[in-house]
Amino acid sequence: MPENPTDVRLDVQLGRLRLANPIMVASGTFGYAREMAGLVDLKRLGGIVPKTITQQPRAGNPPQRTVETAAGMLNSIGLDNDGVEAFIARQLPYLAALGPAVIVSIAGKSSEEFVQLAQRLQQSDGIDAVELNVSCPNVSGGTDFGADPSLCEQVVASVRRACSYPILAKLTPNVTNVAEIARAAEAAGADALSLVNTCLGMAVDWRRRRPVLGNVLGGLSGPAIKPIALRIVYQVARAVKIPLVGIGGIASIDDAMEFFVAGASAVQIGTANFYDPTATMRILDALPDALVELGARSVKEVVGTIGK
Ligand SMILES: Cc1cc2nc3c(=O)[nH]c(=O)nc-3n(C[C@H](O)[C@H](O)[C@H](O)COP(=O)(O)O)c2cc1C
Repeated sequence: MPENPTDVRLDVQLGRLRLANPIMVASGTFGYAREMAGLVDLKRLGGIVPKTITQQPRAGNPPQRTVETAAGMLNSIGLDNDGVEAFIARQLPYLAALGPAVIVSIAGKSSEEFVQLAQRLQQSDGIDAVELNVSCPNVSGGTDFGADPSLCEQVVASVRRACSYPILAKLTPNVTNVAEIARAAEAAGADALSLVNTCLGMAVDWRRRRPVLGNVLGGLSGPAIKPIALRIVYQVARAVKIPLVGIGGIASIDDAMEFFVAGASAVQIGTANFYDPTATMRILDALPDALVELGARSVKEVVGTIGK
């Protein structure tokens, strides 16, 4: 058993993507990182996934776009972003200079749009991987790719052909058989799977007899969804061989360790960034001791070690 936590190896391998440590930030919850620079030592993060970009700028959904719920929040942002060209010109140079792996999240309305985005990113420096957002619940038609195994396979395979970056496919929890979708993404050549995006939900203002969100439905995130995300990581770990990234309600070292033991090789912190921007740093600081507590010398040694 290692006595000194500094002997512990924190680096992890997600297919062809290497991370200095397994603590990343989740798309849409950390802006383009510069907004967080005063609060987080950005260079210490294992990876940064900026807000999903689309080919054209998108204004997103009408307000109200977020609402607090018990142990979580609902959002229906609707992929508000300035488009790929603005991202490459204004955000990517900053992100690329920081040090952590830059994993660019993309979403398209069609397989062709995913491919065009991937091809455009292929011409840019400073990108370590792409995350395919085939799971956004807030864009009309957006969940289709992640809800249908053959569509998911088609999108991942097309992007795989179009660019040489490692690919993370980010899946939705809003399906009956997530293992089936995961196997399709693996068969299509995904390097890793990000599990999960938000759970479809709704908030009601009964006095006004109206939905609270302008888009009516939204994505539930935060501690409320952690058991769902853990269950999906556990199930998918039994269905595929590629590495998994756990996402959903992670706010503490205990949360992160639960995901590693359940089968995730890395984690992304999302909603916690809003109410505790230092969550990632706290988790990272506590990680070596937590691994030592399990007698492990590396993150890899604990991944998927859960018994019955
Ligand atoms: C306000 C907000 C915006 C989000 N935007 C995106 C997005 O653009 N792309 C994406 O893949 N996921 C997006 N997500 C989902 C998160 O990346 C993450 O998968 C989800 O919130 C679950 O993790 P959490 O419980 O730690 O927040 C968003 C989540 C929130 C709360």
